[in-house]
Amino acid sequence: MGCGTGMVGAALKVRGVAEIIGIDASAGMIEIAKQKHCYDQIIHMYLGKPAVYPPKLRNRFDIITAAAILAEGHLGVEVFDEMIHSLKRGGYAIFTTREMYLDKYNYRHAIEELERRGFWKKVKEAKFQKYQNIEKGTKIGRYETVDVMIYAYKKL
Ligand SMILES: C[S@@+](CC[C@H](N)C(=O)[O-])C[C@H]1O[C@@H](n2cnc3c(N)ncnc32)[C@H](O)[C@@H]1O
Repeated sequence: MGCGTGMVGAALKVRGVAEIIGIDASAGMIEIAKQKHCYDQIIHMYLGKPAVYPPKLRNRFDIITAAAILAEGHLGVEVFDEMIHSLKRGGYAIFTTREMYLDKYNYRHAIEELERRGFWKKVKEAKFQKYQNIEKGTKIGRYETVDVMIYAYKKL
């Protein structure tokens, strides 16, 4: 989800993932991703509207990845419902977000609420630093070291 220029797709492809489908709202990003030949199919669509999520994408995927789309100006909490819609039972949603966005954009509440309601179960979480080479407390332009969370949830 939010396949962008295909960074995640390329990383999955070299690890031998059999069939990779990308979704993104930006035609420009998709054009760049296509040149990497890492996706078997790329779908140009806006995520974030679970009520009209296409039937052909439901209960279809073993794994969903969403890297750097839970972010400012990108996806809201609605995309978690779309992850649930997309996955087969027993499939995994693997997604990242900056730790500071968890509460700012209500992601934490939405993720935990879906677990409380029995839609999925957390199997792993980890924290890493982005822009980790920048000395703590300093900035280079608008960049500074930020904490990023990565989660893996299994659809029940
Ligand atoms: C930082 S990039 C993600 C990078 C990507 N995961 C990769 O592996 O290259 C964020 C992407 O989210 C996409 N995006 C933002 N809002 C979206 C939406 N509502 N529906 C689909 N894609 C969206 C943007 O077009 C952009 O390509």
